[in-house]
Amino acid sequence: MASFSWYFTDRLVSKLEEREKQQIELYAETIRYVMTSDENADINFFFERIKKINENNTIPVIWKDGSGHLNSNNIEIPNFNNTEDRQKFLKGKLDEIILENNKPIEMDMGFQKEYIYYGNSNLLKLLRYYPLSQLVVVLILGFLGYIFFSYSRRAEQNRVWVGLAKETAHQLGTPLSSLTAWIEILKENPNVNPEIVEELAKDVQRLDTITTRFSNIGSTPILKKEPLEDLIHGFINYLKIRISSKVTIDIQSHLPPNQQVNVNKYLFEWVIENICKNAVDAMSGAGLISIRLKEGKNNTITIDIEDTGKGILPKNTSKVFAPGFSTKKRGWGLGLTLAKRIVENYHLGKLQLKWTEVNKGSTFRITLPNPTEEV
Ligand SMILES: Nc1ncnc2c1ncn2[C@@H]1O[C@H](COP(=O)(O)OP(=O)(O)OP(=O)(O)O)[C@@H](O)[C@H]1O
Ligand SMILES: [Mg+2]
Repeated sequence: MASFSWYFTDRLVSKLEEREKQQIELYAETIRYVMTSDENADINFFFERIKKINENNTIPVIWKDGSGHLNSNNIEIPNFNNTEDRQKFLKGKLDEIILENNKPIEMDMGFQKEYIYYGNSNLLKLLRYYPLSQLVVVLILGFLGYIFFSYSRRAEQNRVWVGLAKETAHQLGTPLSSLTAWIEILKENPNVNPEIVEELAKDVQRLDTITTRFSNIGSTPILKKEPLEDLIHGFINYLKIRISSKVTIDIQSHLPPNQQVNVNKYLFEWVIENICKNAVDAMSGAGLISIRLKEGKNNTITIDIEDTGKGILPKNTSKVFAPGFSTKKRGWGLGLTLAKRIVENYHLGKLQLKWTEVNKGSTFRITLPNPTEEV
C-alpha cells in the first residue's frame, strides 16, 4: 500500500516536473521572440502571453540577460531603494534556485545567449514530501499499535498471574484451617507424641505463610514500616535451619539502628528466600552468603546478597529475570521474576544483578525507598 502510494506519487511528480519545464520553455521562447523581433511586432500581445503563462503557477523564475542583469517572476522581493540591493537579493535567490537542480533554459538571442533559471512550484515541493509524510503517519500509527498491543498483553498476563495466586490462596485456606483445628485436638490427646504434633504445627505454620504470600500477591498488598535489620535476622534464622548446614549466612548492617523500610513482610521475605535459595543452589550447598545493608544514593536503602557460588555466564546475565529462564533440572525459572515483580511493582524499589563472575559468585541488589527521609 505504502509502496504503491510512493510509486504513484513519484510518477505524478515526474509528470508535473515535465509540465513545469514545458511552461518555462514556452516562457523563454516568448521572451526570446519579444527581444529579437523588429519594432513592428505586436509586443503587447506577447507581454500578455508572458503574464498568462505565469498567472496560475508559483514557479520561481530568474532571467539572466546578456549584461548579467537579473529579472524575476514569482519571487517576492522586498522594497529596495536601489537596484544594486535588488540585484544582490536576486543573486541570492538565484543560488537557491540553482540548488533545485533544474537545467536552465538557454535562449539564443542571435548575438548572445541568455538563460532562464527556474525552481519548483509549491505544489511540486509539497508532492515530493507527500509519501514521506505518509510514511511518518504509518510509522506513528504502527508504533502506537505496538504500544497498545504490548500493554494489553501485559495486562492480560497480570490478570492471569494475580487470578491464579488468589485462587490458590483461597483453595488452600479451607484445608489449612481444618488442619489447625486437628492439631489442637491432637495436642489434647495423651496418646500422641507431642514432638510429632510440634513438627506438624510447624509445617502447618509454613503452609499458612505460603498461603498468606499468595493471597498478598493476588491483591494490593499493604505495606508497613518494619525495622529492616530485625526483619532480615528473623527471617534468616528461620531460613538457616531449612538449608544446608554447610552454608554460612553473614549479615552486616551499615544502617542506623532501627532503620525502617516500608514493606509487606510476607512478600519481602519471599524475595529474600528466592534470592538466598538461588545462592544455595549456585554453591551446591556449601559456601558463604553475605547480606549487607547500606544507605544508597537518592534516599534509598540497599540490600546486597552476595554468594560464593558458580556465578552466571555472561550470555545469561540479561536473561535471569525473564520468566521461564532456568539452568536447573527442576527449576521453573520463576523465582527471580517473582522477586523482581514484588520489589518493583509492590515496593517501588529495584532488583538488579549487581555483580557476577563465573566460579566466583554473584551479588543481587535490592533497592528500596528510604521512608525516614520522606517528608
Ligand atoms: N545466585 C545465583 N548464582 C548463579 N546463578 C543464578 C543465581 N541466581 C539465579 N541464577 C540463574 O538464574 C536462573 C533463574 O533463576 P530463578 O530463581 O528465576 O529460577 P530457578 O531458580 O531456575 O527456578 P525457580 O522457579 O525454582 O526459582 C537460574 O536457573 C540460574 O541459572
Ligand atoms: Mg530460583
